[in-house]
Amino acid sequence: MTVQIIRSKKELRAKIKQWHMQSLVVGMIPTMGALHHGHMSLVKETQTLVDKTVVSIFVNPKQFGPNEDFSKYPRQESLDIEKLNAANVDLLYAPNVEEMYPDGFLTNVSVTKITEELCAKSRPGHFDGVTTVVTKLLLQCLPDIVIFGEKDFQQYTVLKKMVKDLDIPTKVLKGKLIRDEDGLATSSRNIYLSPEERQIALEIPKTLKKLTEDIKNNILPLQQLLNNATQYLLNCGFKEVQYLEVRESESLNSVTEKITVPSRILIAAVVGKTRLIDNMPINSQ
Ligand code: PAJ
Repeated sequence: MTVQIIRSKKELRAKIKQWHMQSLVVGMIPTMGALHHGHMSLVKETQTLVDKTVVSIFVNPKQFGPNEDFSKYPRQESLDIEKLNAANVDLLYAPNVEEMYPDGFLTNVSVTKITEELCAKSRPGHFDGVTTVVTKLLLQCLPDIVIFGEKDFQQYTVLKKMVKDLDIPTKVLKGKLIRDEDGLATSSRNIYLSPEERQIALEIPKTLKKLTEDIKNNILPLQQLLNNATQYLLNCGFKEVQYLEVRESESLNSVTEKITVPSRILIAAVVGKTRLIDNMPINSQ
């Protein structure tokens, strides 16, 4: 199947309206492109629930900080289109920056509290960029279902809350985290890693796995386990461990001692010039 490509919100609205008039269920998968197995798994999960699938590709300038990789972020639309064709995606929505943020654009959508910690500490303003663009994408498309990957666990939690708080009539799903064969969480940014850096990066999933076991077996106080793991990662060659924390999966509240509800270990760490994030459930969810 050949995916239909739409670049304007007007055409997108018309197409979705036509589908809705036919009572077809529409699912959206927002992405920034450079599509990989993680993205394609979200497509597959969505396709089991909907009649029509819309993938959006938009490298959103508002969610990149001044010293981040906006200009060198991988852009490979023709390769992406091949993948969408192979996966039988119905529609690619790929607006340009001008279509998304016309001259004079002044609005910011912001979720409080849960956007002030974890990734926000090293990426100020990042989540405002994400929530603003996802609000726009959802209002432009009005899908019945949208899916976000648990690879970006804080992002998923923030977006789910935003959709609820703003009464956006779209059901939010969480797509499972996909890893490469060697265990590294699949990411468009993995192409930045040299072979040596990738070896170091692999210590993230290994350390998370070991930590989940050690925490479950209660071998040391939680904070001590996290401190030891941080030190271990620094010794392995990470330039920085920005956070390594246990949070309640639903609320993202900090867990400092006993785990009483489903919780996850979340990490952000820098190897060379590349910032990587990952997470793992300790006890389900
Ligand atoms: P991007 O990094 O392209 O990711 C698009 C979607 O794919 C997100 O929901 C992300 O969580 C999911 N994803 C990425 N890697 C994954 C993996 N290994 N396993 C499962 N899901 C994975 O996240 C963004 O774009 C942007 O912030 C966006 C939401 C599109 C707003 O601009």
